[in-house]
Formats: sequence, structure tokens, C-alpha cells
Amino acid sequence: MASAANKARVVVDKAFRIAEVDKRIYGSFIEHLGRAVYGGIYDPSHPETDSLGFREDVKQLVQELGVPIIRYPGGNFVSGYNWEDGVGPRESRPRRLELAWRTIEPNEVGTNEFMAWAKEIGSEVMMAVNLGTRGVDAARNLLEYCNHPSGSYWSDLRRSHGYDQPHKVKTWCLGNEMDGPWQIGQKTPQEYGRLAYETGKAMKLVDPDIELVSCGSSSTGMPTFPEWEAITLDHTYDVADFVSLHQYYGNRDGDSANFLARTMDMDHFIRTVISTCDYVKAKKRSKKTMYLSFDEWNVWYHSNDADTKIDPWTVGPPQLEDVYNFEDALLVGGMLITFLKHADRVKMACLAQLVNVIAPIMTETGGRSWKQTIFYPYLHASRYGRGVSLQPIVDSPKYDAQDYTDVPYLETAVVYNEEEEELTIFALNRHLEEALDVECDVRGFEGYQIAEHIVLENDDLKAVNTAAEENVKPHSRGSAALKDGFVSTRLSKASWNVIRLKKA
Ligand code: AHR
Repeated sequence: MASAANKARVVVDKAFRIAEVDKRIYGSFIEHLGRAVYGGIYDPSHPETDSLGFREDVKQLVQELGVPIIRYPGGNFVSGYNWEDGVGPRESRPRRLELAWRTIEPNEVGTNEFMAWAKEIGSEVMMAVNLGTRGVDAARNLLEYCNHPSGSYWSDLRRSHGYDQPHKVKTWCLGNEMDGPWQIGQKTPQEYGRLAYETGKAMKLVDPDIELVSCGSSSTGMPTFPEWEAITLDHTYDVADFVSLHQYYGNRDGDSANFLARTMDMDHFIRTVISTCDYVKAKKRSKKTMYLSFDEWNVWYHSNDADTKIDPWTVGPPQLEDVYNFEDALLVGGMLITFLKHADRVKMACLAQLVNVIAPIMTETGGRSWKQTIFYPYLHASRYGRGVSLQPIVDSPKYDAQDYTDVPYLETAVVYNEEEEELTIFALNRHLEEALDVECDVRGFEGYQIAEHIVLENDDLKAVNTAAEENVKPHSRGSAALKDGFVSTRLSKASWNVIRLKKA
């Protein structure tokens, strides 16, 4: 038996509503980077592709994840991209030096092909415009090309390229990480704020139905965070609907207890950005609430050394190919829980990225595809985390880690799907050595029964999946039982759990 110290109590009630979960928090990201496009989603060398050269097996894996929105085409790539290079007859498209990642961009895949791919797999696209080397004109032209039905220069050009119907892209990012010294065309907050406002203004004149994302800081580690948000939003507040957040974590020093506590940092990041948005709102006497688009997040550190050895100026080299282990999957689960806890303000989020590049899905060029460890918590949240996010009242034992104090062993979020009459408890046990007994009061959910208790567990925190072997995969033999309105279960040490209840 676990000792009394390893017992957590949770109370869940329908009345404790945070907000309806916007399904777009389960978004992802495809950048023209490494083998994400060339050798990833697109691979004419593969035996099973569609008429455009997109891999069927990859489409199926993306569809399994149910990705509602995909950010495209960058990332750092977008800050040097001429979108016009990627439309029109493929044989006349230029090969360009791609400066963000120092590769050759052949432009075999561009806006129309990507839109066709996304449509087929049932995802919306979150399109980014280049505010690095370009500005208002290129952005408004791209929007006209994509969204205007017909009867204008750019919309008729799209039609002449074989895409009669407008793509109707709703969500647009005003540049990418414009605070970063690595960014082509980096800007000061004042420069970015003015440019983003004027670009957004012109774009909303072309299509008033779009939503715009103003660039936030590249991470909490930036010296200008959160002043960047305060200054840029002062310019863009009236035209933008979201501000972006980006954050990646790693376990370089091998301190797993500290690594799994990184959700504390993410939570603090979100709270700080909310406060900054609300400060600008108050300053402007605005009635509008700014929402958060956490449009890059993941674990990223495994591939950093390998990337320094890659030859420049090749097409689709293997860049940022992190091989994820079991503890990475646990943190990814914790990060998804963090979004659910902020469902009232975080309305979009993109796991960066989707295929091959820091991704849940891996491929061999021309060969096999497989699921990385992080595929699973992402799949579970996307599949079962739709409905109303409820605020659980949690009493959990805690620990102190290197960078955080009072870290609850139990990290949890609860989603109530009224339509399907389902209640899902997502629970991470961060204790690396011991199981955690959890008792959860669900007396408000009369007539509900346990449908499934999914568990992702492994004795080896460093276990990985490969094309040949899936060492980390979930099972449904969790111990959750329901009696007199209380769910009780023992969560294995270091485990990700999805406890699903359904009305009988
Ligand atoms: O996702 C990889 C890179 O990380 C993106 O291109 C950039 O926006 C971020 O720095």
C-alpha cells in the first residue's frame, strides 16, 4: 500500500466551469523545415501517395490525431518566404536559398497544395504572413489570393492556377517570433507593432471575417519579455484577436523531477501574458478581450547537437528530428492539462511540429511511418478533451524541485462533454518512484460509469519508439473504479492517465 502521504483528493462538479474548450487548442504546425514537408507529408518517392505527391500513411496518422488546425508555412521560414514562388505551374517555380534553416527550398509544395492536403485531412489552416523581409503589400495580396472569390487580379490568378473556390483561411499570424535575433528581419517592438497594425488593418479591409494573431515573445527567456507584449499590443490591440506564445522545454541536465515540473513555468507564462493583455485593455479603456494562441509548444532538445552537423543547401535535410522518450510524453500530457486549465483564455495552441521535425509522427523518406511517444497524450487530449473544462479542486502531496517549490505530484484537468454525456479526467502522476492513490468526488454526475481508464506507463523514463518497435504505448487496464459517487484509483509512478466516465 502507498503511504498516507501519497494520497490525493479531487472534487469535480458541473458548476465549476472554466470555459468551453476551443478545439483549436489541439492544433499543430507544419513548417518548410527539415523533412516536415519534403520527405514528411510530401514524398513522391513513396509507393503510396496521392496525385499531388502527399503520403497516404501520413494523412491517416494525422487524421487519427484529429488535428483541427495546422499552422503553415512557418516558423522562421516564413520571414524570408515569397509566397508567389509557391503558386502556379510547379515546373516554373524557383529553387531558392532558404536562409532561416540554410537549405534549398524547391517550392514543389506551396499554398494551394498545402490547402488541398489540409482540406483532405479535415484541418483548418492557420496561415502566417512574412513580416520579416516583406510587409503590408505581400500580406494583403496573399489574403486576396486565398480568400477573395473572384473578379480581382489575385483571386483570378488563383482560379487560373486551378483552384476555383477560395480557400477561406480564417486565422492569420502577423509574422513569426519577430523579437528573435535569429529572425530574418527582426524588429524592435515599436517597429513590429506599427507594421503588424498596418498589415492587419489592410488585411481586415480585404476580408473582415479573418482573425489575426499578433506576435508575442519567442519564449519567457527573452530579455524583452513581457515588455514586448505590452508595447506591441499597444499598437495591435484593436486589430488583433490573439497574441502568440511559444515555449519549448528540455531535460539537458537529466533532472526528471524538475523537467516534469515545467508546467509550473508554462502556467506562469500564461498568467503573465493574460495580465499584460488585460493591462493594455485597461489602458485603452477597451471592451475587447485578447485571447492567447500558444502556437508553438513542445519538448525540444534531443536533436540540437546533431543539427550542427548538417550540410547546408540541400532539400529536406533531417533537421530537428528529436526522438522522444517516455518522460517527454509525460510532460507533453502535463502541458495539455495546462491549456485545459486556461480554457477561458487559451483558445488556440499548436504542438510544434507535426511530422519529422520535433514531431509526434516520424517517417522514413520513401519508407515506414510511426508514432513517437508524445503521439499518445496528444491523441487522448484531442479525442477526449472536447467539451467544457471544469475546475477540479485538488488536494495533492507536493515536492520541491530544482527550480520550483510546492509542485503537486498530481496534475489534473477535467472535461465534461454535455452532448456525449462523458466526463474525462486527465491525470499525470509526477512522482518518479511511487504510485499515487487518488479519490475523486464525482457525486454530481449521477448515473455515470467508468468507460475506460487509459494508462501510459513505463519503467524506463528514457524508453523510445522506433520504426521497428513501439515500446511506449497506452493500455486500458487502469484501476479506476466508481463507488457511491467517488472514483478511486492508484496511479502508477510516473504515469499519464485518462479516466473516462460515461452516463449509462
Ligand atoms: O518550431 C521550430 C522553430 O522554433 C520555429 O521555426 C520558430 O518559430 C521557433 O523558434
